[in-house]
Amino acid sequence: MARRKVVLIISSSLVFMSCMVVFSPYFMTKSSIQTKSSSGGWKEGFQRNPKFVIGIMSANGNRELRDAQRQTWISSLRQDLPLDVEYKFVLDRPTQETQAELDRERDIVYLNLSYSGYAVKFGEKLYSWFKYVAEHNHEATIVAKMDDDVFLCTKQMITRLNELKHTRLYYGWQHQQGIVRIDEMFVVLGIDLVMRISQRKICSAKEFECEKSELVDTNWGGTSLGRWLSSYDDVITVPDNANIIYYHRGQKPSLDIRKEDNFCHKYLLYHKASADDMFFLFKKIQK
Ligand SMILES: *[C@@H]1O[C@H](CO)[C@@H](O)[C@H](O)[C@H]1NC(C)=O
Repeated sequence: MARRKVVLIISSSLVFMSCMVVFSPYFMTKSSIQTKSSSGGWKEGFQRNPKFVIGIMSANGNRELRDAQRQTWISSLRQDLPLDVEYKFVLDRPTQETQAELDRERDIVYLNLSYSGYAVKFGEKLYSWFKYVAEHNHEATIVAKMDDDVFLCTKQMITRLNELKHTRLYYGWQHQQGIVRIDEMFVVLGIDLVMRISQRKICSAKEFECEKSELVDTNWGGTSLGRWLSSYDDVITVPDNANIIYYHRGQKPSLDIRKEDNFCHKYLLYHKASADDMFFLFKKIQK
């Protein structure tokens, strides 16, 4: 009896070991994919910075704002930062002008959605962006959606996000009323939350016509996302209202950035920035 047991143990460990041999190429391939740097070269394993992917939602006609962002805070993404940052402008559909812009800048993604306009299915737009990242950006750790009228204090914001980075992070300017929701002008999500959302189905119908598991589109991005995330109890919500200057629709700016010594010494983000505002803020940083 005892002898049979020994034989059994030996043969099962043999089976286990041969499995390891058969599957080890698979494990090796997986880890070498992770060490491939974004520049296409190969670096030492696991020393690469975590990756932050930003989608800037823009309208075709907002070329001036896009160019101002490119020439200001986006241009400083190339400096040495604790996170590797990749950004894309996210547009609905191609036009002749944006196609020429894409050929030159190589930084535009079209979601190819069949509708467009203000406050029309913003939830689905946000969902499509997260789905795009889930399919195309396997190395992302945290992912943002932001607007084209937002100025980021690049170094300060990236440093802050590097401290907070978590695969279930939900970060930004939090509204005080109703469910927990971060405003969509700048919202950062950890990759686990991005994956969970992108694996669910979006429902554009009225709420009572949607399945319980589906994502209801309130037409607004921020409220939609807040509701989608409310079904999880492990979301790490980090509101950062004190460090972010945000204005509601129609609200008059209460902070005169031109009277600030250096905005980015006090804050991380300025919302409702015109192209001129962005150049002004950036010049202060350069000094
Ligand atoms: C949108 O369509 C264009 C071609 O018209 C294609 O190159 C692009 O990959 C599509 N975008 C997405 C997100 O599938």
